[in-house]
Amino acid sequence: MGRILLRSMAIVLVTSFIGCNQSIESKNLSIQADGSEPSYQNLMPVPASIELQEGKFYLDDSFQVAVEGNPDKRLYRAIGRTIKRLSGRTGLFLPQVFFNPDEKPSDPNMHVYVEKAAHIQFGMEEAYQLKISDSGISLKAETDVGAIRGLETFLQLLDADTSGYFLPALTIDDAPRFPWRGLLMDACRHFMPVDVIKRNLDGMAAVKLNVLHWHLTEDQGFRVESKTYPKLHELGSDGFYYTHEQIREVVAYAADRGIRVIPEFDLPGHATSWLVAYPELASAPGPYTIERKWGIMQPTFNPAIEETYTFLDAFFKEMTALFPDEYVHIGGDENKGVHWDSNDQIQAFKKRMGFSDNGDLQNYFNQRLLTSLKSYGKKMIGWDEILHEDMPKDIVLQSWRGREAMITAAQRGYRSLLSNGYYIDLHQPTDYHYLNDPLPADSPLNEKEQSLILGGEATMWAEFVTPEIVDSRIWPRTAAIAERFWSDRSVQDLDDMYRRMKITSFRLEELGLTHERNYPMMLRRLTGNRDIVPLKTLVDVLESVKVYSRNRQRVHYSYTPLTRVIDAARPDAEVARLFRQNVDRFLNQGGSDPSLASEINQHLISWSGNHAKLSTIIDASPILHEIRPMSEALSAVADLGLESMELIQSRGEVGVSWIEQSTGILEKAGKPVAQTELAILSAIEALVKYLK
Ligand code: ACM
Repeated sequence: MGRILLRSMAIVLVTSFIGCNQSIESKNLSIQADGSEPSYQNLMPVPASIELQEGKFYLDDSFQVAVEGNPDKRLYRAIGRTIKRLSGRTGLFLPQVFFNPDEKPSDPNMHVYVEKAAHIQFGMEEAYQLKISDSGISLKAETDVGAIRGLETFLQLLDADTSGYFLPALTIDDAPRFPWRGLLMDACRHFMPVDVIKRNLDGMAAVKLNVLHWHLTEDQGFRVESKTYPKLHELGSDGFYYTHEQIREVVAYAADRGIRVIPEFDLPGHATSWLVAYPELASAPGPYTIERKWGIMQPTFNPAIEETYTFLDAFFKEMTALFPDEYVHIGGDENKGVHWDSNDQIQAFKKRMGFSDNGDLQNYFNQRLLTSLKSYGKKMIGWDEILHEDMPKDIVLQSWRGREAMITAAQRGYRSLLSNGYYIDLHQPTDYHYLNDPLPADSPLNEKEQSLILGGEATMWAEFVTPEIVDSRIWPRTAAIAERFWSDRSVQDLDDMYRRMKITSFRLEELGLTHERNYPMMLRRLTGNRDIVPLKTLVDVLESVKVYSRNRQRVHYSYTPLTRVIDAARPDAEVARLFRQNVDRFLNQGGSDPSLASEINQHLISWSGNHAKLSTIIDASPILHEIRPMSEALSAVADLGLESMELIQSRGEVGVSWIEQSTGILEKAGKPVAQTELAILSAIEALVKYLK
């Protein structure tokens, strides 16, 4: 819980964003052939420059790709996957799925030119140019990773008309705004099998993310095999860990998609699972058992004994050989030093070393880890707590407690990433994350300091996700965050973002992501395989309580099932968002537009009658009993909405008792039920308020 409480500090309001005309970069975005309407097509992220032209390239069975330049086999595999996805979408019998460097197509329609294969590392070149005309396609890039980014753009451009599948004629010149665009996946709170990681790597590549930050050790589980210290995974994982072979498989899979893999070994706190096996390295006497609750826990490595450093050095020796990326994440977050304060030997050590506080002591610990990592040729990244004046400038800080930490780091000459504002585990709406720019127009940083901001990472902490629902918390919102990291700052149109995100979401399904398809499956389970329509009508407008409220309302454990209504409900409920939008538009236009009124009323009528239909299903399905008050609330507020709509349209008057009664209904419906909230409530409130 403590961890959960502290993490709520990570939420700050986005205070500013800018309109296109204030952008410092001027980019050639979205000019149509006739110079009219801007259009980003269905692209997400929006490229740096698009020029639309007249014409279409129609795809048929003769489609063939030729490769030129000096790539290695990675590019051939990427083109093979692209052709497979194209054939899957179109039903065309495209012959090049097993794309082979030795086969030279006789009459290619697409030419891919790449100068060289990239090293998969920080700062790798990712730019590309894609040209499509009615007679052919060319994709050019310095590196194969650039071409891999361009292939995703190419796939996003596929469209159809009565003549068949086509791509619009255009020229795209594209490159990322930030070099570090990541997704953190926590495989500890709930273990995420290799297939889950792989399908999410595919999703990341589709939206041009380039770092998988793999959170591998926690109080609740030690998730990587250690051959040096096998007791770590044997005693600390409940049997759920990645073998070396699996790690190599994931790293290779990611590299094939131009994605770096950065392991996080969270130290010195968040360490219970290590200390289950090695209690002698702890700051307080053991024994320890794997933690089953959520929150900030106290078990911490003892920084005052040499055995800790000998142990971690040997551990890093093994792990740095397993993970090829230059960076290793040492965590460093949320060590409150409670066990340090209660250990006399640690207190004596602190005094002897002249440390004034636990910050100094933790910095000593971090410096020792840094020495080890450097000896294995690695660089260090850690959460913003590791910032200390004694740290060398080549570390990277990941700012999570507030964007202030990122700013301070840059002002002191450190490179950093922003994760504050991208905590996708907190069920916040997409637009909140989307408008959270690492470098807004009013950033206090000067140009040199701005160049130290490397990008950002979305964080998928896993207290409340299992393999069954994790995709629905990552996608599609992370596609919008990926756009924030890739595209120009001026790309900020929320309606267009939501439009493109919906298309992207559906296309992510072809990669095996389960965010759409598991929803009806979960509803079927909840109803005991009865008709899911009434339950879907309700859950479509429910969202989880936000930020860290869930664990406060009801304590959860690592074994608590995540199969309830709250777990089926999706963040940023689309039906509710569109309804709110319609109500806003209706009221802004004076409450008289008949077609908007009819659309609003249709929803309200369906919700009004929904409880009568859902009630018998709830009766028959005990897992749904907890949601009954919410089902009643939906119908009650819908009735209130219908009444309000009628009064607004007939310009009726309302009296004090009507207002009192309405306020009572709204207040009752505003209380979370089974840790869910009614996402249409603000729209009904707006209707009622209009009448007051
Ligand atoms: C964190 O969320 N404790 C980095």
